[in-house]
Amino acid sequence: MITSQITEKLQKRLTPFYYYDMSLLSETLSVAMSEAAEKGFMVHYAVKANFNPVIMKTIAGYGFGADCVSGNEIERAIECGFPANEVVFAGVGKSDKEIEIGLKHNIKCFNCESVAELIVINEIAGRNGRIAPVALRINPNIEAHTIKHITTGTDENKFGIRIPELEDVAHLLPQLNNVRFKGIHFHIGSQLTNLEPYRNLCSRVNQIYEWFCDRGMEPENINVGGGLGISYDEPDLLPPFRDYFNVFKEHLNRRIRSSVSFELGRSLTARCGSLISRVLYVKEGSAETFVILDAGMTDLLRPALYHAFHRIENLTSTLQSRKYTVAGPICETTDTFGRFVELPCTSRGDLIAIRSAGAYGEVMASRYNLRDLPGVVFSDKL
Ligand code: LLP
Repeated sequence: MITSQITEKLQKRLTPFYYYDMSLLSETLSVAMSEAAEKGFMVHYAVKANFNPVIMKTIAGYGFGADCVSGNEIERAIECGFPANEVVFAGVGKSDKEIEIGLKHNIKCFNCESVAELIVINEIAGRNGRIAPVALRINPNIEAHTIKHITTGTDENKFGIRIPELEDVAHLLPQLNNVRFKGIHFHIGSQLTNLEPYRNLCSRVNQIYEWFCDRGMEPENINVGGGLGISYDEPDLLPPFRDYFNVFKEHLNRRIRSSVSFELGRSLTARCGSLISRVLYVKEGSAETFVILDAGMTDLLRPALYHAFHRIENLTSTLQSRKYTVAGPICETTDTFGRFVELPCTSRGDLIAIRSAGAYGEVMASRYNLRDLPGVVFSDKL
């Protein structure tokens, strides 16, 4: 919650900026970590959700590992204090240079997404006199029931190795002298608010685990990915970490001896961030009243890209409410944060918070229209 005392301090800052509530971040991290640790699970933070160094250092301080999808993310994670032996590297298109960065830092594991990639990693590791630890990212063909654009685990997606290909991969692996098989990896999608798909994922993981064991290739680790959703309607709510980890505790086969790891991004950082913006103009359209902000899709892309909902609050007006279409200043019609949003009567100069922007906000910002990137304000430095 952004109190009136905080608002008073935010008022003095140049807008737009991301405001990070560091005590909310700490609360989220400590609950997630203790719920995972209680069940013996390891969590690697999905750096793609927020790569701000202050946020990342805080996360590293709680003992999380890092899940990276580029060479730059690997380097950033290590600079921010994540131990290299708890860095995993995923991504459907790792370049040669990025594979070398992973090898150089001795990371925990490369999550491989295709036979072709396995062959390339084997070759590069050989050239560098190294043995690369690899996990196979397997596409479990499970429907995640989330936004179509962020579903990743069905046969139609570009991600992972499909189940029918596993026979060939299991045959190939022993012939690759410079990779060592470490485990299996899955990720079915992002922003899942229903836990049922995770139960289905567990049954699929159990089958695949047995399949590998039958071939004498017992995985050391099972990585079930991330995707735990948050409530965009109620931004202050803690994500249901306990129920989420319980699903895996209850439904993964009890005979599994491997370690189990997760890759959470949004659920760890979304809650602590808000995009703070000032109202530039209020203008009447034929059917709606527009509130034009100084923040736009360049600062928070999700509504324009996925029609995603974010809660919008006017921090400085307590007048009677009415409905507005809240839009940014960019020359694009999709540069709209919400239509017919109920807000207290709003006028030029009011401060607006767009909530749950701590994940996939700052990281997806661009300089389209040659705009400045927004500033960053931390609650403990106000
Ligand atoms: N692991 C893998 C392999 C992933 O692809 C992702 C997210 C994660 C973990 C972390 O997922 P999370 O716990 O954050 O849901 N830009 C989109 C989200 C894209 C997610 C991509 N992959 C959005 O703004 O909703």
